[in-house]
Amino acid sequence: MLSPIALRRKASPRKLNNRLAVGYATWDLDSAVGTVEFTDKADVRSRFVFISLKRVKGPAFLFLSSFLWIVNSRPSPFVSTFSNRPMMATQRTAELRRMLALSYPWVKKPFVVGAPMRILAGPQLAVAVSAAGGLGFMGPQAKPDGVLADLDKARELIEASNLRHPLLPIGVGFQVWNGDLKVATSAVEKHKPCAVWLFAPKNGQAELDEWTVSLRKVSPDTKIWIQVGTLSDAIAAINSSAPPDVLVVQGSEAGGHGMAKESTGTIVLFPEVADAVNARKDLGIPVVAAGGIIDGRGAAAAFSLGAAAVAMGTRFLASSEARIAKGYQDEVVRASDGAKNTLRTHLYNHLRGTFGWPDIFAPRTLINRSWIDHEAGVPFEKLQVLHDEAAKSGDAGWGPEGRLATYVGAGVGLVRDVKDASAIVEEVRNESRDILKALSDDHSE
Ligand SMILES: Cc1cc2nc3c(=O)[nH]c(=O)nc-3n(C[C@H](O)[C@H](O)[C@H](O)COP(=O)(O)O)c2cc1C
Repeated sequence: MLSPIALRRKASPRKLNNRLAVGYATWDLDSAVGTVEFTDKADVRSRFVFISLKRVKGPAFLFLSSFLWIVNSRPSPFVSTFSNRPMMATQRTAELRRMLALSYPWVKKPFVVGAPMRILAGPQLAVAVSAAGGLGFMGPQAKPDGVLADLDKARELIEASNLRHPLLPIGVGFQVWNGDLKVATSAVEKHKPCAVWLFAPKNGQAELDEWTVSLRKVSPDTKIWIQVGTLSDAIAAINSSAPPDVLVVQGSEAGGHGMAKESTGTIVLFPEVADAVNARKDLGIPVVAAGGIIDGRGAAAAFSLGAAAVAMGTRFLASSEARIAKGYQDEVVRASDGAKNTLRTHLYNHLRGTFGWPDIFAPRTLINRSWIDHEAGVPFEKLQVLHDEAAKSGDAGWGPEGRLATYVGAGVGLVRDVKDASAIVEEVRNESRDILKALSDDHSE
């Protein structure tokens, strides 16, 4: 019996993608009867039976070749019949991309999303992203009921724009652990945003389900997006009693809060999650990539991984419409080398009096004096006094010698200028499209 490798050498890879073709390929093989299983790490297996027919003649030939035909064309008793997972995933993604686009008809291809960022992504930024043919999300505001005033403002801005849609053509982000479900529900009931983005529950998927059910009850057409940072959270979301309409996969490069420890970069996390989500064909959940996407290169990479859309936060911190202090924004533009100059820590949350984040999350921030002194052993109480003084100094509170929280992603070094959100959306869209086209031309035979 030949090993799978030997069989692969004898039959072209294209033939191996097709079990009938493998049946024919075996006619050339000088081997005994045997079974070969091509096994993927996930539950994707193909089984091939081969028999050498070279020396078989007459009725035996007919019998054995019919046997080959039947066995090799029958669905595998294991799971699936394909062995080319990345291409299958890409085809599935194309369907899901089209599905996602149906809900947001003003969005141009490829699909660019402005991620929710606390108070920093306010109505101006969200509306500017949507007006540029993307989908902009507002952040959850400092206090839960702040969302009501922001939604009023967003409505006003949309009415003055060219955006027209039966639902409010922007999304709203809520942090579940410290959010107020009643306030969120009444805000969604009143304004009917086209999407709600949920993140960071205290009690896992059960809490996300509770939010999803409550929001769907008051606005059934509002799509529920859930952001996760691990495969297991993604699986919990898709297998729950109230699965989301869209899943956002956040890699460890992401700015702001993400997984504190259980994290990996977008390039490995995304396809693994997407495979698990795509396997649930009954659900049809588009998967969006977030974390480290700053320009067209990152976006093109994410689309290659199978993203239905790309969500960017850090890049939009350096947009004219971000609700951000100049000192903070200057840092986003100045800083480089995110590997060396950013890290995840709760220090800055605690210095500004924010406690209670679930342990599994921590924010990525630029390193400044507060962190350096903390590492050098300066007590927290002293750091807090210095932090509060810095907070009174305005823009000087940020910078390498500053002491204030400067939440950014690891891709901060790729942010080199402040631009209008519309220019960012357009640039990322065009760059990623051009890159994918150039690569395809370059690699075509
Ligand atoms: C300053 C900042 C604040 C953020 N606040 C929120 C938030 O309130 N809710 C949320 O779901 N995600 C929040 N995020 C994470 C984003 O949703 C998104 O995952 C992230 O920005 C993507 O990575 P990137 O920053 O590398 O683009 C925040 C990100 C940043 C940079």
